[in-house]
Amino acid sequence: MLVGREGERTRLDSLIARARRGESAALLVHGEPGVGKTRLLEHAGAGAADFQVLRARPLEAESELAFAGLSELLRPVLHLLDRIPGPQKAALSGALALGPSVPGDRFAVAAATLSLLAAAAEKSPVLVVVDDAHWLDAPSREALLFAGRRLGSEGVLMLLGMRDREWISVAGLGTLELHGLSAGGAAALVERTGTPVDVAVRNRIVTETRGNPLAILEAVATLTDAELLGKAPITHPLAVGASGLRAAARQPSPGHAGRTPHRCGERHRVGRGNRPGAHPGRAEP
Ligand SMILES: Nc1ncnc2c1ncn2[C@@H]1O[C@H](COP(=O)(O)OP(=O)(O)O)[C@@H](O)[C@H]1O
Ligand SMILES: [Mg+2]
Repeated sequence: MLVGREGERTRLDSLIARARRGESAALLVHGEPGVGKTRLLEHAGAGAADFQVLRARPLEAESELAFAGLSELLRPVLHLLDRIPGPQKAALSGALALGPSVPGDRFAVAAATLSLLAAAAEKSPVLVVVDDAHWLDAPSREALLFAGRRLGSEGVLMLLGMRDREWISVAGLGTLELHGLSAGGAAALVERTGTPVDVAVRNRIVTETRGNPLAILEAVATLTDAELLGKAPITHPLAVGASGLRAAARQPSPGHAGRTPHRCGERHRVGRGNRPGAHPGRAEP
């Protein structure tokens, strides 16, 4: 269940409705780690059940591998390659290692990406979702941004979820920046965990996490029952904040310096690549 995010939902729902009518759009959904980008993209996917959904989730490990992202994304529509102009087909086939390589034809690959998305959208509207798009390999990113800028009346909605990057402002696409949940939303998220939490402690969690949902869930998961119920003092910072989350998210291998969370149920699991190396319940020593 998605908590809060009314404005964001309205904006995405309207983009979905417009794509259904044949109006395309591309949007960069960005914000700090844990703020809820993946969750919001999932919500968008759920609202587009009648769309053909093309997904990619690039990995940091493959961010230097040319066209890895595009290859994952376009795989379900490669049977439409015959429907796009020959030189574009040749360039894209070469780039994705499906045919002889056509060196250096980046424009043709980008144009082919747009053509292929348009061909796919002839049958039903298309939702393109690339989460963790900051890990896209550069040629895939170039092709997708190119296509995103040129989308018109195909019925394609392209959503790229990503951490803040300085090039976002010059990408030429619409942006949706996610901030922490409102105080009410953050309190509701604490309640949704089903864990009993004293009101004063809950307010402290809401304030110190600045509404970052991942930090909220981690705080509830890592505090002891006595701390959550206000029966034992909390003597450490509850959240390291955005900069700490960012720093932690850069560390790929989890190395818990503090206590192991005493409560580690499925409800607190976070998406792949989202769990900070050091949990946000403690500041690093
Ligand atoms: N609006 C929300 N309502 C409920 N849970 C949320 C919301 N936003 C994020 N979460 C939860 O918080 C955690 C972090 O969110 P996530 O979408 O993975 O963040 P990001 O992709 O920005 O790093 C996940 O467990 C997610 O389900
Ligand atoms: Mg994410």
